[in-house]
Amino acid sequence: MRVAVAGAAGRMGRVIVKNVTEDDELELVQAFDLRELGRDCGEIAGIGRLGVPIKDARDMEETLDADVLVDFTTAEGAVENIRVASEKGVKLVVGTTGFTDDHWRKIEEYCERVPAVISPNFSVGVNVFWKLVEFAVEFLKDYDVEILEIHHRFKRDAPSGTALRTAEILKEALGDRKIVFGREGICPRGDEIGVFAIRGGDVVGEHTTFFIGFGERIEITHRAWSRQAFASGAIKAIKWIRNVNKPGIYGMDHVLGFKSV
Ligand SMILES: NC(=O)c1ccc[n+]([C@@H]2O[C@H](COP(=O)([O-])OP(=O)(O)OC[C@H]3O[C@@H](n4cnc5c(N)ncnc54)[C@H](O)[C@@H]3O)[C@@H](O)[C@H]2O)c1
Repeated sequence: MRVAVAGAAGRMGRVIVKNVTEDDELELVQAFDLRELGRDCGEIAGIGRLGVPIKDARDMEETLDADVLVDFTTAEGAVENIRVASEKGVKLVVGTTGFTDDHWRKIEEYCERVPAVISPNFSVGVNVFWKLVEFAVEFLKDYDVEILEIHHRFKRDAPSGTALRTAEILKEALGDRKIVFGREGICPRGDEIGVFAIRGGDVVGEHTTFFIGFGERIEITHRAWSRQAFASGAIKAIKWIRNVNKPGIYGMDHVLGFKSV
């Protein structure tokens, strides 16, 4: 499987480059970014020279040549990269977050041409965390539900894609509860799901769902302390998509076998 990585100079991209290189079934053939152009992506990833220079993502239309494109970039960048890959019949594994409704409309249209695994969180742990939340909420429908996430100070989007997906899972089970992002001023609690984002230091990613009743509460927490947790899942997704030919958007629940195709 010939793999190209978009965002290869970034925090996630560098870990993906390392993981693809170390895997016998995968071959890293191209790296794209908007910075560090021309530099060897292995040197940037701290694993020594690989002979794969970082190419300008703005030229991807002319240069992309791979079986799968892995994208950990920015929402605007990823939408464009998805368009280019889909027009070239290149399969996709997308971890980028922060997409707006307008972005999603475009992504859905582009992914009518190729299969794509798109997930706001590739860690196996978070995908099990979502299952635990789905299970718990069925028994705690009259409890107050809140979500708290913590990430490093450089994260661009808030709340995290993982927190938003968690809120969607809860909303699906709880019906018409409103999602509230933070609270300020006079705001008595209504039928709502509160979502809170903390930013600081080098926290890789933490999420807690609180189910709060009278006299007790349950907290379901996932903590990632290394980006390796996401990279291992992304590698699973790359290998899974190798055998999928039906175009469309898939999630990690398909990759992990929680949901059938
Ligand atoms: N799904 C997951 O499991 C998961 C895990 C961690 C981070 N993320 C998400 O992945 C994205 C990247 O996170 P990060 O911490 O690596 O960010 P980062 O800022 O360290 O890296 C992003 C890289 O993408 C590059 N870039 C920007 N636009 C580009 C484009 N159009 N084409 C190619 N490269 C481009 C930037 O120059 C940068 O090097 C974010 O949206 C983040 O929320 C997802």
